[in-house]
Amino acid sequence: MKSFDTSLLYVLSGTGNTFRVARWIEDLFEKNGIKTRLKFIEDADWQEDFKHSGRQLTTVLFPTHGFMPPWSMIKFLFKMPLQKKAKVLSIATRGALWIGPVKIPGAAGFANFFAALVLLFKGYDIRGFFSLDMAANMNNFHPSLTLDAVNGICKKSKRKIEFFMSRVMVGKRVLFTLNNLYEGIWASLLFWLIPIFPILYLIYAKTGMAKIMFANNNCVSCGMCAKMCPNHAIEMKPFFGKKRPFWTYHCENCMRCMGYCRKKAVEAGHSWIFLLTFIMAVPVFANITTGLTIAIGRFLGINNYWLMLLVEALYYIPALFLSYWIFWMLIRIPAVNTIFSVTTLTHYFKRFHDPETRVKFLMKRKKEIL
Ligand SMILES: Cc1cc2nc3c(=O)[nH]c(=O)nc-3n(C[C@H](O)[C@H](O)[C@H](O)COP(=O)(O)O)c2cc1C
Ligand code: SF4
Ligand code: SF4
Repeated sequence: MKSFDTSLLYVLSGTGNTFRVARWIEDLFEKNGIKTRLKFIEDADWQEDFKHSGRQLTTVLFPTHGFMPPWSMIKFLFKMPLQKKAKVLSIATRGALWIGPVKIPGAAGFANFFAALVLLFKGYDIRGFFSLDMAANMNNFHPSLTLDAVNGICKKSKRKIEFFMSRVMVGKRVLFTLNNLYEGIWASLLFWLIPIFPILYLIYAKTGMAKIMFANNNCVSCGMCAKMCPNHAIEMKPFFGKKRPFWTYHCENCMRCMGYCRKKAVEAGHSWIFLLTFIMAVPVFANITTGLTIAIGRFLGINNYWLMLLVEALYYIPALFLSYWIFWMLIRIPAVNTIFSVTTLTHYFKRFHDPETRVKFLMKRKKEIL
């Protein structure tokens, strides 16, 4: 007996893993006679989507970023309408890795608990949450897994999600599972950092990780990265008569641009961050802040920790903003671009995107995908 007649899948996906999981669920539901709509979160239409919420199961699906939902998903969860007893599921995909013969499972940590809590406060009836291993996609830190490894992880995960969904379909509430216990342990280990962790992660992701992305000399200025970015975070800026991608603060490091660029032109400037942090920034920063703090402290007759922090912030924040502009200027010089390119690890990494998810699937909009 089905406990709902229709299903709505709200999907956020960077490199296609979560989209693939959504397609598995869609197939399963359709086979069981449940009419299913798959929508990207930017295509949500609250009035239309919740018109018949009584017999509908709504599922939010997203990748884990820093043990939490990505920021666009967090914003989406907060925007979801208040609903009395509308059935909802949360599914986070997480990144599993193979190191030699050892499989390291991912950890969604607080991601599902957070989503479920927000929805619970909004009046939803939480039917379950689940985190699912897919191939790790942090391509700015590690190379892509082999196709065999990716397929192996997917095969197992498909079975797991089908089992989970078969229980949900017959009306069971699936909250207490071994998988959720594992995530609960992670979440409690991290709990003392919450809510500092997501805030720190946001600052780090936007000011650090996003601000080392650049296009190498292979870039043909096609603009695909800007078009495919789910956060509209790439601006194509003039670059010697052509246009090249410039990463703005909207970037959430979903890795789509890096994974799908056909020219393998998107890099993370590891050597730039090294240069900035260890060679230039730290000694300059240390000298300036210590000198300034002592001088200001003496002048004002105070010597305290908060003053030190303020002086540090006055130096660091403009430095962070300025540094990407400096980097952007430097990489315009082809020889310098080559140097930064061959000295970043990503130059030697195999790129990752889900092998079954073509970029055009991720770029389809509302009317096309329904
Ligand atoms: C910036 C970033 C942070 C991530 N953080 C985590 C994490 O905390 N735990 C985890 O298991 N996987 C993490 N991952 C891996 C992804 O959650 C995982 O590969 C996911 O399936 C990607 O889905 P997508 O292809 O739909 O974007 C992270 C990936 C990225 C790009
Ligand atoms: S980085 Fe890649 S996708 Fe972006 S403009 Fe250059 S070639 Fe095209
Ligand atoms: S710029 Fe690239 S990594 Fe950043 S959000 Fe857009 S597609 Fe994802």
